[in-house]
Amino acid sequence: MRYITAGESHGPQLTAIIEGIPSNLPFSFDEINKQLHRRQKGHGRGRRMQIEKDTVQVVSGVRHGYTTGAPVTLVVENNDWTHWQKIMSATPVPEEDEARRRVSRPRPGHADLNGAIKYHQRDMRNILERSSARETTMRVAVGAVARQLLSQFGIRVAGHVKQIGQVVAQERELSLDELMQITEDSPVRCIDPDAEKKMMELIDRAKEEGDSLGGIVEVIVEGVPIGLGSHVQWDRKLDARLAQAIMSIQAFKGVEIGIGFEAAGLPGSQVHDEIEWTEGKGYSRKTNRAGGLEGSMTTGMPIVVRGVMKPIPTLYKPLMSVDIDTKEPFAATIERSDSCAVPAASVVAEAVIAWEIARAMCEKFPSDALDDMVANVEEYRAYTERF
Ligand SMILES: Cc1cc2nc3c(=O)[nH]c(=O)nc-3n(C[C@H](O)[C@H](O)[C@H](O)COP(=O)(O)O)c2cc1C
Repeated sequence: MRYITAGESHGPQLTAIIEGIPSNLPFSFDEINKQLHRRQKGHGRGRRMQIEKDTVQVVSGVRHGYTTGAPVTLVVENNDWTHWQKIMSATPVPEEDEARRRVSRPRPGHADLNGAIKYHQRDMRNILERSSARETTMRVAVGAVARQLLSQFGIRVAGHVKQIGQVVAQERELSLDELMQITEDSPVRCIDPDAEKKMMELIDRAKEEGDSLGGIVEVIVEGVPIGLGSHVQWDRKLDARLAQAIMSIQAFKGVEIGIGFEAAGLPGSQVHDEIEWTEGKGYSRKTNRAGGLEGSMTTGMPIVVRGVMKPIPTLYKPLMSVDIDTKEPFAATIERSDSCAVPAASVVAEAVIAWEIARAMCEKFPSDALDDMVANVEEYRAYTERF
């Protein structure tokens, strides 16, 4: 399975083409729209998310509610495009900056300057329109399709916000259902009510001060069979692929699996998970410090992945930059911006992990049609219990 996305932040639409989804998968538009809506929410988001009401259109690969096996093309239109038609026109417009909203002052922390130099663009709008995290709309849409495939095998993906700025949520023993319910009701997708309140206050303060905040999100996947991924080749290692998926989200700068960086300071006896076997259940681990992955393959325990998001780089109290025309110092250009997008990013993180797990499932159980794949997974699960 593979996908690519296309589209600019203020262009007419965002597009994703997915190839390799087995045929006959029941396809729910509502499920995709639900996920798109989740991405748009969250305390700390800017005005753009009030303008957009993301709704998916499917223009290929699905017929009468089921996938056909052909490439699936998803489209989300940008409502804001109506205000940007001339600025983002594919055909030439007059040279003056006003018509083009040309950007000559790169924003620190963005792709603006590096991209402009690399792609020979004196107007950095040609870079920032594509590097914008508006693209994550399509990651969430693609992830929602992946979730529909995973649900056929009882695999579920959830996420939550562990930290915003200096505020860290307390751990809680929760089932996945409980976690999902609490985070859906939380404006910052946090399971700890005290931390939630502090996070919201911190975001409000950062906004007032023209500043921004980053944080940590955690994604949990339950119901995965043993043995997704592989130890035999570097690019088949599932932990590495999950890390890439997280790092591919705009503004993500670090990844942990299981206890992650904490393992560096602990003896082996407190890091590795003892193996046990029980009748009717088969193999499992007494603990899950490895976060569901050993030897780059799934252990059958829940997968636990965390990602670190840097603070949003567009600041209403802008950092200094250099105008590429005059080489004079200037305050960086301000594009309309979120002050904290960690809650939304946790939804994106769920989506990219869902995609990668779905891809690993299709590699382990390759089938053109869903019923073959379901039969293969069932047989394999019975085999792992007997093993
Ligand atoms: C969901 C989400 C929303 C974001 N919203 C904004 C925003 O409104 N303004 C902004 O400057 N950056 C925003 N970012 C971050 C930038 O896209 C990111 O910092 C930039 O693309 C550079 O990322 P990089 O350092 O990983 O290359 C957002 C990121 C995510 C994941």
